[in-house]
Amino acid sequence: MGKLFGLLGNPVSHSMSPRMHNDAFRSLNLDHHYHAFDVKVSNLESAVNGIRALDITGFNVTIPHKVEVMKYLDEVDEEAKLIGAVNTVVNKDGRLIGYNTDGEGYLQSLQKITGEQLQHMKVLIIGAGGAARAVFTVLSRYGVPELHIANRTKEKAAILANECNCGNTNVMVCSVEEAAMCLDIYDLIINTTSVGMSPNIDQLPIDLGNLRVDSVVSDLIYNPLKTKFLQEAEAKGATILNGVGMFVGQGALAFEKWTGHSPDRSKMEKVVLQQLGGS
Ligand code: ATR
Repeated sequence: MGKLFGLLGNPVSHSMSPRMHNDAFRSLNLDHHYHAFDVKVSNLESAVNGIRALDITGFNVTIPHKVEVMKYLDEVDEEAKLIGAVNTVVNKDGRLIGYNTDGEGYLQSLQKITGEQLQHMKVLIIGAGGAARAVFTVLSRYGVPELHIANRTKEKAAILANECNCGNTNVMVCSVEEAAMCLDIYDLIINTTSVGMSPNIDQLPIDLGNLRVDSVVSDLIYNPLKTKFLQEAEAKGATILNGVGMFVGQGALAFEKWTGHSPDRSKMEKVVLQQLGGS
């Protein structure tokens, strides 16, 4: 009999996950189904209990439940604990185990661009929210030698730097303006904030005046596919990476944890791009 998977979030009407996962189930001839459940904050505990009662095999968690959901699970893996958020839950014989595949999904998409060079890169992360924590944690675990965090609220960047450094990475915290002044020292610049996301597509998370032409510029945003930040970086000659790869990566890793099957990531990307109106 087919198994049931889902997403807990609010709102979920625009989620691309159901089509991405259901298409991957079909491609692998799996009789499973993925459904997006719109769950209010006040109903999260009941929703998780419902998952136990219905024996749903696995689910994703998105805004605003990624942190809160942890207290209703039986176990949370080490990386998700470091990041401080869960986006994927596996129901293992009735025990709900939480993971975070956002960071690893991002790392995989980034490595397609940087290859092993990532080991030597000086990196700037803009932002210090949940997405920044996922990116910071995997990059420090990977062994990036130097990671700087620039955030509007500097104290939040300092907390992130203290809590998520799991390697020998040199970490520095600065303001966005300070980072902009010495932008040419960075090999990789990553925007993890929502600045530039639709509908505010004219906003830039940082001034790119001092960008080096041989740097890699990455934006976790995928709507629009090419933010103003990426457009400007590309115009200056930088290599760019949008957030589609991270979205597909986190989904594919969740899919593997749930089913033991490896989905066709390029097909998943196609389904996502169709929904985003890209090609
Ligand atoms: P997410 O989980 O998607 O990372 P979040 O936890 O709300 O979302 O974090 C949002 C990040 O974007 C934060 O770093 C936030 O800066 P503050 O820590 O100062 O709040 C940043 N951010 C959001 N809107 C911003 C804006 N208009 N200008 C600058 N930074 C912004």
